[in-house]
Amino acid sequence: MRIDAILSRFGYCSRREAAQWVKRGRVTVKGVVVKSASAKAELADVLVNGEPIEFPDGLYVALNKPLGCTCSHKEEGELVYDLLPPQWLNRGDGVSTVGRLDKETDGLLLVTDDGAFVHALTSPKRHVPKVYEFDCSAPIPGDAVALFASGELVLHGENTPCLPAELVITGECSGRLTLHEGRYHQVRRMLAAVGAPVVRLTRTAIGPLQLADLQLEPGEWAAIDPAIFA
Ligand code: URA
Repeated sequence: MRIDAILSRFGYCSRREAAQWVKRGRVTVKGVVVKSASAKAELADVLVNGEPIEFPDGLYVALNKPLGCTCSHKEEGELVYDLLPPQWLNRGDGVSTVGRLDKETDGLLLVTDDGAFVHALTSPKRHVPKVYEFDCSAPIPGDAVALFASGELVLHGENTPCLPAELVITGECSGRLTLHEGRYHQVRRMLAAVGAPVVRLTRTAIGPLQLADLQLEPGEWAAIDPAIFA
């Protein structure tokens, strides 16, 4: 790949700015300072500012989303993308979250520049399980377990019932819910439907990936291996 194409593809600078980056000696190939932005190189041989190219095979990251930020590129207020290195946002394929969490939900959120990965994990056909832990402002009725498992709960304003979901009641007003789909505000709406409004909601797992294993403080991220979802 050409050096100017590499620099813009991986978000370091625009193709036009690449000549300046090269002139300033920021790019080396096999340890030798590159002289021309049109020179070609293998990605593995290139260092930018002394560092290897970040995520040369695609960006796959788990973020511990804090409360109060929005999964959007353009809304007002704090955005999840503000928590990520700005360079990632300039990568050629763009960066997006895999699905969304509400502003007032925290926990495990995946971020990638791989559209096929987003599709594979959010496709209704895949049914990748997502686990949520929550507190409610009223006791959770015991019969919610059977109702959620039945595949017969139709949410307000919808026509098709929710897929069967596994509810574990862990305290009078707290529980854990595993969903196999992702409808708008689904956890909050399911609990509201049984008279137990959610007041705290955290996503703790997506498929085999557990937030607890990642040991991330709110706002921190870690690279993940996308193959675990295959
Ligand atoms: N369900 C919700 O209600 N909110 C989320 O953020 C995720 C699932």
